[in-house]
Amino acid sequence: MNHLRPLAIVCSMLALMVMPARAQKWEHLADTPQMGWSTWNKFQGNISEDIIMGIADAMVETGLRDAGYTYINIDDCWHGKRDDNGFIQADPVKFPKGMKAVADYLHGKGLKLGIYSDAGTNTCAGMPGSLGHEYQDAIQYARWGVDYLKYDWCNTANVNPRGAYQLISDALRSAGRPILLSMCEWGNSKPWRWARSVGHSWRTTPDIWCNFDSLRVFPGYTQFGVMQCIQLNDTLRQYAGKGYWNDPDMLEVGNGMTENEDRAHFTMWCMMASPLILGNDLRNMSEATRNIIMNKDMIAINQDTLGVQGLHYCDKDGLQFWFKPLAGGDWAFTILNPTRQDIHFNLNWQEFNLTDDDVSGLSTSFNTKVYRVYNLWTHRQEGKTSLKNKPERKLVAKARDVISYRLTAK
Ligand code: GLA
Repeated sequence: MNHLRPLAIVCSMLALMVMPARAQKWEHLADTPQMGWSTWNKFQGNISEDIIMGIADAMVETGLRDAGYTYINIDDCWHGKRDDNGFIQADPVKFPKGMKAVADYLHGKGLKLGIYSDAGTNTCAGMPGSLGHEYQDAIQYARWGVDYLKYDWCNTANVNPRGAYQLISDALRSAGRPILLSMCEWGNSKPWRWARSVGHSWRTTPDIWCNFDSLRVFPGYTQFGVMQCIQLNDTLRQYAGKGYWNDPDMLEVGNGMTENEDRAHFTMWCMMASPLILGNDLRNMSEATRNIIMNKDMIAINQDTLGVQGLHYCDKDGLQFWFKPLAGGDWAFTILNPTRQDIHFNLNWQEFNLTDDDVSGLSTSFNTKVYRVYNLWTHRQEGKTSLKNKPERKLVAKARDVISYRLTAK
């Protein structure tokens, strides 16, 4: 049907002309989950450039930057007014030097700047939103030297989520500076089903609060404790992968939970390949907090290049058993005790011969393979897995705590 070919060519040219130019998101900005710090959990709207710069100094001095935490994210309430041309300005009282100066300061320290906006008329705290100004805002962020945008979902009556997030993603792409897009619509429109090519992470939960296992209910919204975040995020593991992560919200380590609760919280965020965005005051933290967030062995589980969210394999006697396949045939294995009692149990490796059919296709094969067992919190080798089908490791899982191992095939 050769005579149809010119017609086909004309049709495809026409199609190209009428199709909207749809950019891909900026690629390779989050091939492993993003790591950094955000103002929100500790400071809410009480922020200033002095706080940001002080946190940046602490990020470097404590060694956190070198452990991988590079983004310093300014959440809600940095905004001033729009200028006569509609370009957003920083609040001149909180940021007298201006946002460009903050970005330059962070970049000079090998850090990156994150900023926050909202797809609606106003942000959740009532500041100007990006609706109707998406391209202008993207241009402004690029001019300032911003590297990361958290894009929230308050005040969005009549806004379509897919359209709104695609629009800001396209705007960021057009503005020419690589900016990571952290989507924050709390899972309302199931972004894990449609946003892989739009953003680099999407919130899967309502807001976290600094509590291990209860809800905080306000009129119109509810905050989740650590366990509620885990439970919801756990159902979505097949949707996460290299460059697009499930985000069960920012960390509360160091903000008031007990040390063991903080350790369990941090471990589970690592097991779930969640973004690690610290939320405590880095300028002033306890040794215990520092040891948790600086655990490089644990961070390596989060940042593993296979990029698979951990599998909640089973529950037994009040304990949860989690496995995360790692690059090179290793596994991370975590026993989470979410209860208020210490639990004694005998570990039999043969109960955990599993194949991760849903995501990686990998098997633990404890019946044929022996692994070296490395404790990710004591940093000690603890022998090997056993091929014998009998309980051979007596353990005590402490209340609201974890036992966590890296298993390395011999
Ligand atoms: C929403 C977000 C939070 C935070 C606040 C700021 O609640 O989910 O993470 O950004 O807005 O107002």
